[in-house]
Amino acid sequence: MKSKVYIETFGCQMNVADTERAATGLRQSGYEMCSSADDADVVLLNTCSVRERAERKVFTRIGEIRAARPNDRNLVVGVMGCVAQLEGQSIFSQSPTVNMVIGTRATDRISSLIERVREGERKVSDLGERREEESWDVSPVERHSPHVAFIPIIEGCNKFCSFCIVPYSRGRERSRPASEIISEIQKLKSLGYKEVHLIGQNVNSYRPRTEQGIEGYPGATPFCRLLRAVAATGMQRIKFTTSFPRDFHPDIVSAIEEHPNLCDWIHLPVQSGSDRILKAMRRGHKRSDYLEKIERVKNSTRQLSLTSDIIIGFPGETEDDFRETIELVEQCRYDSLYLFKYSKRSGTPAASLSAIVPEEVKTQRFLELERVHRRIQEDIYRDYIGRTLSVLVERQSSRSETDLVGHSTCHKVVNFPGSGDLEGEVVDVTITEAKTNSLYGTMRGSN
Ligand code: 5AD
Ligand code: SF4
Repeated sequence: MKSKVYIETFGCQMNVADTERAATGLRQSGYEMCSSADDADVVLLNTCSVRERAERKVFTRIGEIRAARPNDRNLVVGVMGCVAQLEGQSIFSQSPTVNMVIGTRATDRISSLIERVREGERKVSDLGERREEESWDVSPVERHSPHVAFIPIIEGCNKFCSFCIVPYSRGRERSRPASEIISEIQKLKSLGYKEVHLIGQNVNSYRPRTEQGIEGYPGATPFCRLLRAVAATGMQRIKFTTSFPRDFHPDIVSAIEEHPNLCDWIHLPVQSGSDRILKAMRRGHKRSDYLEKIERVKNSTRQLSLTSDIIIGFPGETEDDFRETIELVEQCRYDSLYLFKYSKRSGTPAASLSAIVPEEVKTQRFLELERVHRRIQEDIYRDYIGRTLSVLVERQSSRSETDLVGHSTCHKVVNFPGSGDLEGEVVDVTITEAKTNSLYGTMRGSN
C-alpha cells in the first residue's frame, strides 16, 4: 500500500507554491497525498519564520500531532520551509519527535529523506541548494485552487532589509526562465484556469539568465518585459506580488495600462513613512522616492487598487517617526493595509538594535494606525457601491450557504448570492454594500 503524506502549509504564497511542488514530486515517487494529519503516515509542516509568532506555531502543531497518536511509532514528522532552513539540526533538540528537517531548496528531495527514515535513520536533514535541473512543474491536482494558480517567477531575496529573515531562509535571488513561465501559463489556460499570480519576494527584481520567452517584448526592465509576454498569452486575469519600491519601475504601470488582462492592483510595501526609520531598515528608498512611484500609480489612466505592508515599532521609532507613517498612509490612501508589530528575528541586523519600543506603545500605535486606515478604507469601499466589478467565483462563502465569494480584478473580496455551479466562472457583480475588508453585491451575468 502507498504511504500517505499530508502537508500543512503556513505563511506566504511562496510556501503554498512549495507545497504544491513538493506534493507533485512525492506523488511522482509513488506517495499518496491526503488532506488530514489523522490519515497520514508522513506529516510535513511547511513553516514560516517571518515573525516570532508564526515560528512558535510550528512547535505547538508538532505537539498536537504527536499527542493525537501517542503510540504510533511509524508516524514520520518533518519540518520544511523557512524554520527548517534557519534552525537546521537544532530542531531535533527543540522538538525530539521530529524525524526530518527539509530546507527551502530541498523540496524535490523529500521522498529520499522519507525513505532514509523508513530504513532506520531516525533523524535526517537536507539544507542544500536546489539542483540546477530541478523541475518547477506542478501537477494541476496539487494546486491549491482549480481557478487561481500561483507561479513563482523569482525565489529568494538579495535586499537584506535589516528587520527581515527572508534573505537568510530563502537564500539569493534566482529567476526562473521566462520561456518556462510562459509555457506554464499557456498550459494553465488550456486547463481552464482564469487567474494567475506571478509570485516572488521581489517580482520586479526578476532577472532571468536568458532572453528566451521575452524576446520581442519591450519594457524598461526584464519584469516589465515579462509582464507584456505573460499578457500576450491571453490568460484572463494576471496579478503579481510582491513589488519592492526601489525596483518598482513606472513602466510596470504603463504595461498595466496597455493590457486589460494585467489586473488593476499593486501591492507595494512601504514599511514606514519616516526617512530615519527607512534608513535604519535599509530599504534603499526614501519617503519621497516612494511617493513619486505612488503618484504614477494614482495618475494612471486605469484606477489601480493599492495595498501595502507597514511595520510598527521598529527599534528607535519615535512618536514623530510614527506621525510620519500616519501622514504617509493618509496621503497614499491604501485600499488595504497589512500592519505588523515589529518582531525581533535573531540573525538579522536589526536584532542587535537596543532602542526597543515597548509592547504597549506598539499596540497603541497599531490601533491608531488601524483606525486611520479603516476610515480611509471605508471611504474607498463606499465608492464602489453602484459600480460593477468582474469577479472570479472561488467558492461558497463560509458565512452563508447561499452566498459565493471571489476576488475582483482589483483584488477585493466580493460576496454575493449565487449557486455553486458558478464556481470558477468570471461574473459581473454590482456592489450594493461596503463591509470591513469586503464588498457585497448582486450578480448581473457571467462573461
Ligand atoms: N517583524 C514584523 N514584520 C515583519 N515583516 C517582515 N519581517 C518582519 C519583522 N521582523 C513584514 C513586512 C513584510 C511582510 C511580509 O512581513 O511588512 O512586508
Ligand atoms: Fe525581506 Fe526586504 Fe527581501 Fe522583502 S525585500 S523579503 S522585506 S529583505
